[in-house]
Amino acid sequence: MNTSIPTSDLISLIDKLHTEQTLSRSEWTALISGRTPELSEYLFPLARQEQQKYYGTDIYVRGLIEFTNYCRNDCLYCGIRKSNKNVHRYRLTEEEILTCCREGYDLGFRTFVLQGGEDGWFTDDKMITLIRTIRQRYPDCAITLSVGEKSRETYQAFFDAGADRYLLRHETCNYQHYGMLHPASLSAAHRQQCLRYLKEIGYQVGTGFMVGSPYQTAEHLAEDMLFMKELNPQMIGIGPFIPHHDTPFAGEPAGTLELTLFLLGLIRLMIPRVLLPSTTALGTIHPRGRELGILAGANVVMPNLSPTSVRKDYLLYDNKICTGDESAQCRRCLETRMQSIGYRVVTARGDSLN
Ligand code: 5AD
Ligand code: FES
Repeated sequence: MNTSIPTSDLISLIDKLHTEQTLSRSEWTALISGRTPELSEYLFPLARQEQQKYYGTDIYVRGLIEFTNYCRNDCLYCGIRKSNKNVHRYRLTEEEILTCCREGYDLGFRTFVLQGGEDGWFTDDKMITLIRTIRQRYPDCAITLSVGEKSRETYQAFFDAGADRYLLRHETCNYQHYGMLHPASLSAAHRQQCLRYLKEIGYQVGTGFMVGSPYQTAEHLAEDMLFMKELNPQMIGIGPFIPHHDTPFAGEPAGTLELTLFLLGLIRLMIPRVLLPSTTALGTIHPRGRELGILAGANVVMPNLSPTSVRKDYLLYDNKICTGDESAQCRRCLETRMQSIGYRVVTARGDSLN
């Protein structure tokens, strides 16, 4: 960590970010690399103040349905990458997915997130039928897709079928760094193009990245901040990188709680109305990680609605929490956790004010 910049200067940078909602590349780098526990103490109350100005103490919930763990890609960090032969692969049937929605609806979820690997078995036609059915049965719910890179036409067709939101983390906006985390078949340029298509079409878009991914530097994070400021998404999902034992990054260290929380606070000040989940990965590296995420400025939680029978097969990283818990248990668990810090889980679509 760089301690050469006086704390008072870094505090001034946080104040500047708070008033102007932007910093220069070198200011971002200085702030991120110069962070200290003292700076976090200063940042988090400001982040909470911004969060509560727009969203009060309401915490939105999204029901995550991990409907396929087949994936044609081979991202070096991901446990369900194509070349991991130790994964037991599964696909939920349309009926199973609809059962998850029903259970979720009855538990008060008004957003369903359909997440999966890039699985060619789920053709555009199959996806469109599924989206239409959910849209028809749950007109009051938001449908969020998280199924990776598709053509503009496909994104448009999914939108026309009734999808409202799309999650596609940019992962890292630096081209070289992207190349170190992904096979040559994938590019940062294409990923970023997909995000622009999604915005143009009219989706509420979520992007984000892993904190502490291998080779990540403060300069990369500064670029990520500038990229997200420019894209101006409705949601930003960040969580610590956590190694998976069957990937090339098995021996790499995990991202830290402390840096993840600091970045959550900074993002809240940079885009005050953004929806910011306190992620499962954060809950995995610390027993109260999700509560601490909320206290650093996050305002969304995304419990799992997938059937417990497949939970242990959707492991992007090691030690993932909640793989043995029923949806209802997670719903209640989160309610208690949020109450313990003075927030409340609400039944609402929870659209972004950004
Ligand atoms: N650790 C933490 N997050 C991961 N993701 C994938 N693999 C890992 C890992 N090992 C994240 C990626 C992806 C999202 C669905 O999960 O950022 O976009
Ligand atoms: Fe799943 Fe707590 S959120 S058990």
